[in-house]
Amino acid sequence: MAAEQLEAWDIVSGVGLTALIVAAGRAIDSNRADALIDDPLAAHFLEAADAPVPMPTDLGTAERDGAESLAIWTHMSNHLGVRTRFFDDCFLRARAEGAEQAVVVASGLDTRAFRLDLPAGFGFFEIDQPKVLAFKEEVLRGNGAAPRCDWRAVATDLRTSWSGELVRSGFDPAKPTVWVVEGLLMYLTEDAEKQLLDVIRELSAPGSRLVCEHLRDIPSLARDPEFARVPAYFHVELPELLLGESERPRPEDRIAAWGWEVSTRTSAEMAGRYRRKFDPISQALCSRTHFITARSS
Ligand SMILES: C[S@@+](CC[C@H](N)C(=O)[O-])C[C@H]1O[C@@H](n2cnc3c(N)ncnc32)[C@H](O)[C@@H]1O
Repeated sequence: MAAEQLEAWDIVSGVGLTALIVAAGRAIDSNRADALIDDPLAAHFLEAADAPVPMPTDLGTAERDGAESLAIWTHMSNHLGVRTRFFDDCFLRARAEGAEQAVVVASGLDTRAFRLDLPAGFGFFEIDQPKVLAFKEEVLRGNGAAPRCDWRAVATDLRTSWSGELVRSGFDPAKPTVWVVEGLLMYLTEDAEKQLLDVIRELSAPGSRLVCEHLRDIPSLARDPEFARVPAYFHVELPELLLGESERPRPEDRIAAWGWEVSTRTSAEMAGRYRRKFDPISQALCSRTHFITARSS
């Protein structure tokens, strides 16, 4: 299917809006006294976007917007604080252990290229929809943000064959890579997920790593009354967005079958390690949210 035939979105529509929600969660976590991350650029995206619901940058503002707003944004900052911190830690470890370039698949408003300690020549490739990346670049440029590495945006649709575009952007399949797949698989069909993982395998030199989020038991999550508050608050239809079905093969099983070393942790486990106490909505999500890390030999 050609890219123009596929549904596209910007930062305030469809799955693009989820990237803005994630940025708000990161901005809020960064402003908490018990912050797990420091993402000062996240707030700039919220200032620039015409979001369909208020996107606060701290919990005080969320509270002034009402009790439901406080509950939703407490959850978002809890969930995304833990997730982002885990992915940051894995990313930096992968680099310290030999990754020579990174690909952030469906990067949304991820600012790792701008906030983590990376060498200037480190190739950092971000793949997302053209309008999402255009918004991101405009905001970053408008705020004078400078990447700390060799940052390259690859504007494409992951449901097409995108590996050629990545290579044309300067990605070197001979170098060990750290792949980041955060907040994505739940929005892909089974075929698209399989295609994505196959491309990652194909383009991974020995010593490459993958860190990936996998949400399980989506049908039961969608029925959970605590979690149901989230799509209601954002006025989104969950079944239209969340495509990851429970019956499909688990990503870690596919990856282990490649001969990669794989391990899996839940967000509940990582919240315990980071001493972050979860609210009721995050409780509904945390045993279903799995973080997979893998390394090729
Ligand atoms: C929840 S956001 C996560 C963004 C980022 N990984 C993060 O954690 O901040 C989901 C992102 O996936 C992107 N996305 C989903 N399906 C995609 C596709 N088929 N092609 C390109 N990008 C896609 C959306 O545009 C959005 O930026």
